[in-house]
Amino acid sequence: MSAEGPPRGANRAPSGGSAAAKPQAWGDHPADVAQFDVVVIGAGPGGYVAAIRAAQLGFATACIDEWTRDGGKPALGGTCTNVGCIPSKALLQSSENYALAGHAFAEHGIEIGGLAMNVATMLARKNKVVAQNNDGIAYLFRKNKVAFFHGRGAFAGKDGDRWSISVDGPAPASLAARHVIIATGSAPRALPGVAFDNVRVLDNAGALAIPDVPKRLGVIGAGVVGLEMGSVWRRLGADVTILEALPVFLGAADEAVAKEAQKQLAKQGIAIRLGVTIAAVRTGTGEVGVDYTDAAGKTQSATFDRLIVSIGRVPFTSGLGAANVGLALDARGFIAVDAECRTNLANVFAIGDVVRGPMLAHKAEDEGVAVAERLAGQQGHVDFNTIPWVIYTSPEIAWVGRTEQQLRSDGVAYRSGSFPFAANGRARALGDTTGFVKILADAATDRVLGVHVIGPWASELIAEGVMAMEFGASSEDIARICHAHPTLSEATREAALAVDKRTLNL
Ligand code: FAD
Ligand code: NAI
Repeated sequence: MSAEGPPRGANRAPSGGSAAAKPQAWGDHPADVAQFDVVVIGAGPGGYVAAIRAAQLGFATACIDEWTRDGGKPALGGTCTNVGCIPSKALLQSSENYALAGHAFAEHGIEIGGLAMNVATMLARKNKVVAQNNDGIAYLFRKNKVAFFHGRGAFAGKDGDRWSISVDGPAPASLAARHVIIATGSAPRALPGVAFDNVRVLDNAGALAIPDVPKRLGVIGAGVVGLEMGSVWRRLGADVTILEALPVFLGAADEAVAKEAQKQLAKQGIAIRLGVTIAAVRTGTGEVGVDYTDAAGKTQSATFDRLIVSIGRVPFTSGLGAANVGLALDARGFIAVDAECRTNLANVFAIGDVVRGPMLAHKAEDEGVAVAERLAGQQGHVDFNTIPWVIYTSPEIAWVGRTEQQLRSDGVAYRSGSFPFAANGRARALGDTTGFVKILADAATDRVLGVHVIGPWASELIAEGVMAMEFGASSEDIARICHAHPTLSEATREAALAVDKRTLNL
């Protein structure tokens, strides 16, 4: 990796289009340099939210982003909106609907003949959802008076106490900023020597745009992208094999949750091979061959029509001009920041995927808000202990706080309470009784230390756990709160009751 970071990911389009906002100029600076209090580089969830919050707080704010969609228009929203959170959830919903229509509707008396999947229509819908979100952010910029510059932003130097930022695009601009917030995100990590071509070897952008259902889909990496994208294409009929280097499945999740997830995904026909070492990926024959060593040390070979490589992401700082101003990166290429997102340069901050911490949109957003508020002299704060994780497989998986294995290794005495959706009336009515809610609480104080959900709408249910932990709630607090009936959230209350071994409905 160069000092500037990895090469540009295939999912990032070159700059195009024109600046959406006229440069503003005031003060005793050259009239052709637009002056701002805050310039944000990158309009992903970190950058665009930081820009909006800074503008709300009264700063003259600009945001620069280079992502371009068909027709040369800007595509605001970064990885999350264009080739991440939003399109993946659109495809997960479409494929889930198809799976339900095929397997679950009959028991409701809904009889469907000639069920078929039109992949082109599904992809067009996904693109429409993405475009709606792109346009939504442009609207928010206008509403909040954030000046937008379409192109690549780079540090050009410093003039007095102001950073000089160049915008390189069809409408080049020069900006000067008192404060800079870098939110340039991340790019997919490639296997050494195996370039993404997005025909056979796919990154996240390719995985979200496969034009027809592959008969045999290989996935390298059983992380979040691999499981979500593997689920999409499995539901549509692909034979999916996931090859994972680690010997344990979903090691970051609570072990009981990971075990249930592995069981359910296997039931859906997703083959998950753990403990593999990839030896070679062969392309060029209209297929992809993968040679690997399995967990037992045996040499294996598999052939796929397409191969998704989802082995993590790397920080993206290419073209930012970091070296021009001596911006420090850490050994892994992330921009080095302190706990408050300060870089080594005065008044320059960095947030989101390009800095340490989980690569999640809501973490990026919260860091953006916190930095803008700190600039305004407020006490911006992000609590890394209460950042929720969600994996949008079926069943959904969500958690916040520590897992049982972490509490054990931290030597914390805890009590655990679980409640299965099989005993929840709403889950039965939904026809989805897979999974459970589990609450871990401190044995001495009863303070909630972790909430783990696998099952229907885990992505929504986890908010109660986050709220409880943010407010330092005990499991008894959750157990004493009135939960509407019949709802899935009653399973959370019952899990809280289970911590004290007094469930009412089990
Ligand atoms: P990004 O979203 O990567 O945005 C960075 C922006 O900066 C881009 O628009 C880029 O073009 C621009 N940029 C970079 N350099 C420059 C420059 N020099 N000048 C101008 N512009 C520049 N997270 C979740 O929380 N939930 C999910 O469900 C979820 N699903 C995901 C699904 C997939 C398939 C993937 C790949 C990721 C997913 N993520 C999800 C992760 C999420 O997308 C990232 O954590 C999030 O996008 C990070 O936001 P960011 O603002 O830091 O960076
Ligand atoms: P990941 O870090 O979640 O998973 C990568 C997996 O690949 C790991 O299990 C790792 O052990 C494995 N791996 C690494 N090298 C390997 C190799 N050589 N051979 C085989 N396996 C190997 O990364 P992923 O899935 O690419 O996603 C990137 C990030 O995007 C995630 O960490 C997450 O932060 C974010 N994301 C979040 C989502 C969500 O919140 N629902 C959805 C998708 C992505």
